Amino acid sequence: MANSLQHIENIIKIIEDDILATNSTVVKENICHQEFSEIAAAIQYPLTAGGKRIRPLLTLLCAGTFGGEKAIQNARNAALALEMIHTYSLVHDDLPCMDNDDLRRGKPTTHKIYGEAKGLLVGDALLTEAFFRLAQTECKVSEYLQSLVQELSYCSGIQGMIAGQWLDISFTGKQDLSWEQIELIHKNKTGRLLGCAFVLGYICGLNVLEKVDNQENLKINKDKLRQAGEFVGIAFQIIDDILDITASSQSLGKTAGKDQEQCKATSVAILGLEKAQILATEFTSRAYTLLEGVFEKLPTNSENEIYKNLLFQQLEQLLVRKY
Ligand code: IPE
Ligand code: IPE
Ligand code: MG
Ligand code: MG
Ligand code: MG
Repeated sequence: MANSLQHIENIIKIIEDDILATNSTVVKENICHQEFSEIAAAIQYPLTAGGKRIRPLLTLLCAGTFGGEKAIQNARNAALALEMIHTYSLVHDDLPCMDNDDLRRGKPTTHKIYGEAKGLLVGDALLTEAFFRLAQTECKVSEYLQSLVQELSYCSGIQGMIAGQWLDISFTGKQDLSWEQIELIHKNKTGRLLGCAFVLGYICGLNVLEKVDNQENLKINKDKLRQAGEFVGIAFQIIDDILDITASSQSLGKTAGKDQEQCKATSVAILGLEKAQILATEFTSRAYTLLEGVFEKLPTNSENEIYKNLLFQQLEQLLVRKY
């Protein structure tokens, strides 16, 4: 039996292989061969630059918790789609008109290599391609495919990441913000995609189970898992705000100290380092409680239990991460 670290490494390998395999998909028309090759390379550039792969990892671990190894295989397209959405959000976040960053995942940002206009298009391409991938998930019933597409669009768009980025920009430079306002930014810009990670994993778990969940159960579980992910996301963004001050650009792979320089509305600016860290721990334990509530209804099964434990371990590690 593989130990925890090996298990995680094996799952990360699945994610990395699926990301690399996206390379061959851009159709190369002979008359503009060079341009089409450039699109393929430009899309691969931010995707393969590195990254912790937290969102796809949580999707696959959550799928495993519900449906074991078979569910992990079923969830591969969903995990890839989510990492594509997250990577697009970073490509756009770094553009000069947003956070104006030169460094991402240890490399020059996409617009530094391809220019602003093509950088914008790379983000758009990843966003579109994500749904193309997600739609290829083999679903037991049409409601599950519908749920997958609805969840990813809900969490990425004006009810989620875009709303959060909008608030982030609106509140930049503002004085006297409350913690509730910061929480709202964090919940939307970071929390919703983490909530999405759990919900996509859950639905892919259902895809391999015998029984079909009724609409009511489906909604209850999706809502709880989404909220658990939001709590994880709030904690995650608090730590990101802390690391912006306490870590180096080299260890982060992105420019440190940017938030203060750009007068960003962050948890550290409002609460200070110590209170921010305490709050991150509090939000993580709220997430645990919700997740445990959903998972305890599952029939005990040793394979699923392993993935559940790995999932909780990962959440704990997010809190103490140094980069
Ligand atoms: C960075 O996310 C943006 C935030 C939401 C804080 P990650 O810290 O997950 O970035 P990568 O994917 O590892 O580069
Ligand atoms: C961005 O938050 C979150 C996204 C939705 C992309 P930040 O602006 O704090 O992320 P970093 O610090 O640049 O990774
Ligand atoms: Mg930003
Ligand atoms: Mg940024
Ligand atoms: Mg940040």
